[in-house]
Amino acid sequence: MTKYNDARRRFLQASIAAGTAALLPSGNLLKAAETSADKSFPETTFSLDGRKIRIYTKSISEPVRIMHVSDTHLYLDDERGDKYREYSDRMSKAYNSTRNYKNGAETNPMEMVDQIVEEAGAQDLDAIAMTGDIVSFPSAAGVDFILERFGKLSVPRYYISGNHDWHFEGMAGTERELRDEWIEKRLKPLYPSGANPLCYSVKVKGVKLLFIDDSIYEMLPEQLEFVKKELATMEPTAAFMHIPLYAPGRSVAFGVGNPNWNASTDGNYKIERRPRWPEKGHTETTYAFRDALLNAPNLIGVFQGHIHRQSLDICEGKPLHVTPSASDGSTTSIEILPM
Ligand SMILES: [Fe+2]
Repeated sequence: MTKYNDARRRFLQASIAAGTAALLPSGNLLKAAETSADKSFPETTFSLDGRKIRIYTKSISEPVRIMHVSDTHLYLDDERGDKYREYSDRMSKAYNSTRNYKNGAETNPMEMVDQIVEEAGAQDLDAIAMTGDIVSFPSAAGVDFILERFGKLSVPRYYISGNHDWHFEGMAGTERELRDEWIEKRLKPLYPSGANPLCYSVKVKGVKLLFIDDSIYEMLPEQLEFVKKELATMEPTAAFMHIPLYAPGRSVAFGVGNPNWNASTDGNYKIERRPRWPEKGHTETTYAFRDALLNAPNLIGVFQGHIHRQSLDICEGKPLHVTPSASDGSTTSIEILPM
């Protein structure tokens, strides 16, 4: 198969960046984009149809089915959170009332989790991938709720944090310090036993899944080394993370490796009571991370959250998909299928 035609790729990327929502209802419109950037990796394409993304590849022999869940934004809390109320106050009042995306009925994130668990139980899934903002702050009650509800299922569940899961707003400390502290104190049970919360990989049938914490927008040298090492095996690999990678035409919220990400574009640091983004923008490590990921021929897709609305970009021929917020019951079905 030939490499993806540059002009067509630019056209597709521009079209999709201009309005994914407008394009989606037409159904199976994207059965087009090759994700192979190198002939040494077997032919791979994908399609997007509503909330179902299918990746077809000659690199596997049996199907892999994944439910992608992100941004449930549970606001639950109990007496274990009493002494942290000044830090959880704002987010504990967010997403208290949502609307079920299926019928518009007023609901809340906990009811939506129940709906999602029921849907997952009715499907033949190989994994559930959770990409952060599952809890709106490091709430022990919220973590317990997720463990109890998803614990009803036998399907393996993999989690990586978002920017809210570990964040007590206004608490002293750098973002790296707070992330480390509250993952250890609250979020640890959500991860697979023994997993490094900053980056870990699992193998699901013939596909490698990378879970990478990009919840402070900046990547650490060990995370760059991790992706290089994991991708070097040339196995078909999908990446899961909270904050979307930079994609031309998108807002600065698509922030990892975004050249526009810096202090002057940080509109929320006061509201979120966190350090302002740096004057100089990203580190070289963060740019190198995005390059290493997207230029790997065996990367078959990147699955992200944070934005709360569905979108699809194609960068370096790879699909970068954002799943809508599960606070309204949304999930994405990812099917990786033999060609
Ligand atoms: Fe987020």
